[in-house]
Amino acid sequence: MLPQQFLNETAEEVVAPDETSNQTNPTGRVADVTLLAPRAAQMRRIFAEAECDLPFRRGNAFKGMLTFTDNAEEPIHRWFYYKEGYSRRLVKQVLNLYSPPPEYPAVLDPFCGAGTTLLEAQAHSYPAVGVELNPFAAFLSQVKTSWNKINPEQLARTLDNVLVKAKNTNTNLPELTTLHNTDYFPHRNAHKWFNLKDAILQRRCAPEVKNALLLALASTLEDISRLHKDGRLLRYLTRDVISPREALRCRVEEMISDLQVMADKPSGSVSVFRGDARHLEKVFNGHKPPKFGTILYSPPYLNNFDYSEIYKCELWLLGMLNSYDQWRRLRQSTFRSHPSCRFDSTSYLKDNSALREVYRLVEQAARCPNIGNGAQETLPDVLRGYFDDVAMTLQEQIKLLAPGGHIICVVGNSKHGALHISTDTLIAKTGKALGLNLVEIYVGKYRYSRKEKKHKLRESVVVFRKSDDV
Ligand SMILES: C[S@@+](CC[C@H](N)C(=O)[O-])C[C@H]1O[C@@H](n2cnc3c(N)ncnc32)[C@H](O)[C@@H]1O
Repeated sequence: MLPQQFLNETAEEVVAPDETSNQTNPTGRVADVTLLAPRAAQMRRIFAEAECDLPFRRGNAFKGMLTFTDNAEEPIHRWFYYKEGYSRRLVKQVLNLYSPPPEYPAVLDPFCGAGTTLLEAQAHSYPAVGVELNPFAAFLSQVKTSWNKINPEQLARTLDNVLVKAKNTNTNLPELTTLHNTDYFPHRNAHKWFNLKDAILQRRCAPEVKNALLLALASTLEDISRLHKDGRLLRYLTRDVISPREALRCRVEEMISDLQVMADKPSGSVSVFRGDARHLEKVFNGHKPPKFGTILYSPPYLNNFDYSEIYKCELWLLGMLNSYDQWRRLRQSTFRSHPSCRFDSTSYLKDNSALREVYRLVEQAARCPNIGNGAQETLPDVLRGYFDDVAMTLQEQIKLLAPGGHIICVVGNSKHGALHISTDTLIAKTGKALGLNLVEIYVGKYRYSRKEKKHKLRESVVVFRKSDDV
C-alpha cells in the first residue's frame, strides 16, 4: 500500500499510450501507478514502498572497501590506478562470507575492470575467470594476473635497453585530438610517450615482459600530462609534469619490487576474456567454462560514466583504437550506463512477464517529468537500456552459477536532476524475479551526489544465492 501522502499527490501527466485505463478507485487512490508519470518526489516514495520487504542490512562488514583507494599501496594491484574499482579487501571479505561450495571453487567476474576480483581469488588459490569489454581494462587484468610469469631481471634489463634505444623524434601521433594538444602534453611529451612505446615494441623479450612494460607506460599518463581522470571526465589541471622516461622508470621499478615481494605467494589459475557480459556464452565460445561457485562483480554504475572516453588515451596509445569509427563502435558495445551515444533499444524487461514489477518501476522513473539538470532528454533511454542490460547479465550469470553458489553485485544508486534511482533495489528485484534467492542487500556506504552535496546515495552489496537443487 502506498503511503497516504504519496497517494494524495497528483500525477503531473498521464503518458501511457499502450495502457487502456487510468482510473482512480472509489477511495480516490490511484488504481495502477504504472499509468502515471510521477514526479521525482513521488518516485522516491514509490522506491521506498518497493523496498519495504527487502532484506536491507547495515553494518561495518564492507567498511572502506567500496573504493580502489587502498589498492594503491598493494603489490600488483597498484600497477594502474583504476578509480572505478573496489578494494581487494572487499573480495577477501566476500570470499570469507560467501565462499564457493568446495565442489565448485571457480570464481567469475564478468566486469573485471582492473582485475581486483581475479587477483584476490588467485591469492586464495581459487581458479578465476574475468570478462571485460574495454580492451585496455582487459589488457590490464591480463597483465596483472600474469605477474607470476614476469621475470623481474628480464624486465629490468629490457627497461634499460628501451631507455637507451628510444628515439626522441616527432612521431606520427594518432588522430585523437587530445594527443595533439600541447597544453595537455607539454614538452612534446605525447611524442616521447609514443617513442617509448615504439622502443618497447621493437625489443625481443618474453611477451609477459613486453606487456608489463606497455602497461607501465600506459600508467604514466597522469604523470606526463596535465590530464586528470575525474569522475566521468578527463579534466585539465595546470600542474608540473615529469618526462615520460622518468615516469616509466619509476613505474617499472615499482613493478620489479612488487615481483620480488610476491615471489613465493600462491597463485591460482586465471583466464581473462575480452567480451560482453550480456552474452557470456558467446564470450566463452569454444571454451566450456566451469560452473562458478561465486560470481562477484561491480557493473558500470548508472552515472553517465563512459569507460571508452575516460581511458581513451591509453586505448589509442596501445593501438587498441586507431580511428574515431572504431572508438564509436566500442562505445556502442558497452553497457548502456551513459548517454554518450545512441544505443539500439531492446525490450527485455517489457517482454518478460516475470520482470513486470521491475519493468513498471523503470518505466515510471523513465516517464518522470521535469527532473531538470539536463537529464530529462537523455535519462529515459539510458534507464531503459541500463535495466534491460542488468536483467540480461543476471540471466547469463544464472546459467553459469553452480547450485548453492552466490552472485554478489556491488552497485551504487544515483541521482539525475531531482530523480533518485534505487539501482540496488531494482537489481535485487530482478534477481529474485529470475529465480535467485535474495540473501541480503548490505549497505556498504553512503556517498553524496556529485551536484547536491546534501543528498546521500547508497552503495550496496547485493547478495543472491542459487538453490542447491537447481
Ligand atoms: C565498475 S568497473 C569494474 C571494476 C572492477 N570491479 C575492479 O575492481 O577493477 C565496470 C567495468 O565494466 C566494464 N564493462 C562495460 N560494459 C561491459 C560489458 N558489456 N561487458 C563486460 N564489461 C563491461 C567497464 O569497462 C568497466 O571496466
